[in-house]
Amino acid sequence: MCGIVGYIGDGSAKEAILTGLKNLEYRGYDSAGIAIGKKDKILLRKESGELENLIAKTQKSDFDGTIGIGHTRWATHGSPIRENAHPHLSADGRVAIVHNGIIENYIELKHMLTEEHGIIFKSETDSEVIAQLIGIYYEGDLLEAVRAAVKCVRGAYAIGVMAADVSDTIIAVRKDAPLIAGIGEGCNYLASDIPAVLGHTRDIYVIENDEIVVITKDDIKIYDEDMTRVSRDIMHVEWDAAAAEKGGYEDFMKKEIFEQPRGVKETLERRLTEGDEIWLDGIELSKEEIENIDRIYIVACGTASYAGIQGVTLFEKFAGIPSESDIASEFRYRNPLVNERTLCVCISQSGETTDTLEALREAKRKGARILSICNVVGSSVARESDDVMFTWAGPEIAVASTKAYTTQLICLYLLALYMGRAKGTLPDAEYRSVLAELKQIPDKLTEVLKTEDQIKTLAEKFYIKEQVFYIGRGMDVGTAFEASLKLKEITYINSFAIAAGELKHGTIALVRNQTLFFVLATQDKLYEKMLSNIEEIKARKAYVVSVAKEGNTRVAKVSDETIYIPNCADDVAPILAVVPMQLLAYHIAKMLKRNIDKPRNLAKSVTVE
Ligand code: M6R
Repeated sequence: MCGIVGYIGDGSAKEAILTGLKNLEYRGYDSAGIAIGKKDKILLRKESGELENLIAKTQKSDFDGTIGIGHTRWATHGSPIRENAHPHLSADGRVAIVHNGIIENYIELKHMLTEEHGIIFKSETDSEVIAQLIGIYYEGDLLEAVRAAVKCVRGAYAIGVMAADVSDTIIAVRKDAPLIAGIGEGCNYLASDIPAVLGHTRDIYVIENDEIVVITKDDIKIYDEDMTRVSRDIMHVEWDAAAAEKGGYEDFMKKEIFEQPRGVKETLERRLTEGDEIWLDGIELSKEEIENIDRIYIVACGTASYAGIQGVTLFEKFAGIPSESDIASEFRYRNPLVNERTLCVCISQSGETTDTLEALREAKRKGARILSICNVVGSSVARESDDVMFTWAGPEIAVASTKAYTTQLICLYLLALYMGRAKGTLPDAEYRSVLAELKQIPDKLTEVLKTEDQIKTLAEKFYIKEQVFYIGRGMDVGTAFEASLKLKEITYINSFAIAAGELKHGTIALVRNQTLFFVLATQDKLYEKMLSNIEEIKARKAYVVSVAKEGNTRVAKVSDETIYIPNCADDVAPILAVVPMQLLAYHIAKMLKRNIDKPRNLAKSVTVE
């Protein structure tokens, strides 16, 4: 979740780095800093809080040069104070570094540096040991010093390094944390993420694990860990920087909610042939390979894991393969029964979530085939998977995931239908009818978005609530979990989701006069059961807002309020039902004047365990 930017060239390093850091704000940060090389010195500015604080500190025109590195930090080791912000300097001030990731053996390194070299540390961070190690090893060859230092560290890192007396080179190295180099004109860039450089260039090199990069203003050289030169294709980034801006909406979250009809349409229709066969965009999954799969594990975190819950139903129903969804942070610690016949489906918007990546690696070690559903081309998840199905949602900037979720669902439907069809277990009529339903989803999503005024009125009523419950059955359970997460992460209201059948096994004890319940009641086959659940909580004086399909008037009779979604098959209802819940969370957060795109304590991409 930290961001790195580096610049070397004929222009203003300060300008390029600050723009880059601004473009990375979506990653989340709590302090920022910049180091500029000038006349054999390193000029350093760091500030905690908003990037504006740092910008204010860099205004003087003598604070600039043609080489520099910058960083936005999200605290892991050490509090979010200025001293802990990057860049960190070596004790003699000759070397500056920025670092993303975690150095696992930093305590022993710190001890060694203090005891044997008399180093006095200036921060509480793990990252400072890297600056100090390079400082110790630096005897005129910066590249060798960086190599020697990284040999000492264990953990995950993307590191950018400069030295006071080296005015023409930035060195960077990567292990398990994202890093790219951008190719400019008369200059070159270093960054943790592509958006940081998009304002300047669309041509980039993706740096791989254990590679070291030597960047000068005219050249970018990539080496493997043995210093063998690596040739790398230039990746030309097609997506538009403007696509990452708010496009007239007040917040990225709102923009992204309203982008769902388009994102879903792209993700779906670009994978359908004229005859409505599913084309998996380069993924080779033969009938034999599918028949060989005896279990599917879906691993993901947060919202992506709720898409995973829906995936279980889809894989079991359409492909007839026993499936399980697991939270990525738990998966690898429970010795999962994974082998060569397992398909591991990893779902991640960012493709950089450490827990998901580690689960992926664990499944891979055990022989599983890894098929990922991911929104970011060139991300670690995408690169480490055997196959990738990209969600064509476009960049998702708001911390609260919306369009990534609905497009992840579309990928899961397509994959499950494809597998069932290839195996021959899914009857043609069923396949065609589900596809027909899916093809109507983009238009129906547009209809759902028209309920915004009704939702806003509800938000005005409920924003003072301290506690909210979400219940559902069947595929509505996953929607209830996702709706509840949306509410809590952007409004900070305590919300709780539970399978409706579980209520009477304990949670119903919490129901009293005016307790607010959102009841997801979109599954026709479970409709009667949901009506009974509503009666149960109404009998205890709960206030019930139901989400149901148009035409289901009985639910309106027993509920206090009803939000209708367009009529559709039960199987596809989750894609529609979640949207009013996203809007509700959004409008409640708006009433409460929350920082919607960047809720407290959260970051867009969670690159620590
Ligand atoms: O980038 P990923 O999809 O791997 O991220 C997983 C979760 O961190 C993410 O979905 C998180 O739960 C969102 N803030 C939810 O809105």
